[in-house]
Amino acid sequence: MERGMGGSTLSVVLGGLGVLLLYRMLLRLRPGARVQDAVVVITGASSGLGKECARVFHAAGARLVLCGRSAARLQEVVQELTASSAQSKTKTYTPRTMTFDLAEAEMVARAAEEIRQCYGHVDILINNAGISYRGNILDTDMAVQRAVMDTNYFGPIALTQALLPTMVRQRSGHIVVISSIQGKIAIPYRSAYAASKHATQAYFDCLRAEVESYGIAVTVVSPGYVRTNLSLNAVTVLDKSTAMGRDPKDVAKAVLEAVRRRSKDVVLAGPLPALAVYIRNLWPALYFKVMSLRARKEQRPQDA
Ligand SMILES: NC(=O)c1ccc[n+]([C@@H]2O[C@H](COP(=O)([O-])OP(=O)(O)OC[C@H]3O[C@@H](n4cnc5c(N)ncnc54)[C@H](OP(=O)(O)O)[C@@H]3O)[C@@H](O)[C@H]2O)c1
Repeated sequence: MERGMGGSTLSVVLGGLGVLLLYRMLLRLRPGARVQDAVVVITGASSGLGKECARVFHAAGARLVLCGRSAARLQEVVQELTASSAQSKTKTYTPRTMTFDLAEAEMVARAAEEIRQCYGHVDILINNAGISYRGNILDTDMAVQRAVMDTNYFGPIALTQALLPTMVRQRSGHIVVISSIQGKIAIPYRSAYAASKHATQAYFDCLRAEVESYGIAVTVVSPGYVRTNLSLNAVTVLDKSTAMGRDPKDVAKAVLEAVRRRSKDVVLAGPLPALAVYIRNLWPALYFKVMSLRARKEQRPQDA
């Protein structure tokens, strides 16, 4: 009798998994959202993941507005992309550029107006720019905490809010934010960074619910380590872990796929960080214990 019940439970679980797999396969067969000719704004397009996103969206035929603080570095990206267009079978466009500092609220408002004027509307906004920080909370100045929040949180939300009305008017649009696995779990010695990414996750989760009825999609992408210069450009010291991270090209392809599928939440991390997200929610006491052991081990975060 008991064995019979165990067997039927197993059948229900396997049946459920089968239905889930079938559902996911059917979702993949749906025609994806169009990227060809779409107006795509990418922040932090001068380097790392943003530059790779620029490559894949350009190759897919998007009309790009590339943003960053250095006009010269953005021009280098434009030249690279334009040179690559010669071999492309897809119709491609020469990207436009916009130079502004996300941490300066007034500059963001002005830049948003100029971005709108580039093509008269925006289809996809990819909030990618960000800075990293590692350090002991005891030694972290409030100015550093604020600087990280300004670039990683207040800047992207200011740009999003400034561009949102055009999407609401056109009753379509897609807002993507590159968060981090550290927006889902907090790791010692990353206070400002993890806090900025947790705030990002919360804000864009709220936004998704609020704008769905206008036909606007919101995607939060949470990568683990990616091989970019993020740690070299960090507010403080270096982080060796990024050197062992994912190839930014693969992450950029996943961002394009998420846009085509209008995915809501995408985690691009190895099995251990992905498991940690579940443990943080299902068994917080265990998570806190592991993090406290890790903090002791890293008491002096030499590679931070
Ligand atoms: N690398 C990783 O391991 C990793 C992991 C998870 C999530 N992420 C996230 O991925 C995103 C991209 O990072 P990345 O790894 O590609 O780093 P990156 O190579 O250092 O690129 C950061 C980009 O952000 C721009 N930027 C920085 N501060 C800015 C500001 N105040 N105003 C305007 N633009 C600014 C930079 O442009 P300029 O310097 O030219 O202005 C640069 O293009 C970030 O949001 C990061 O948090 C990265």
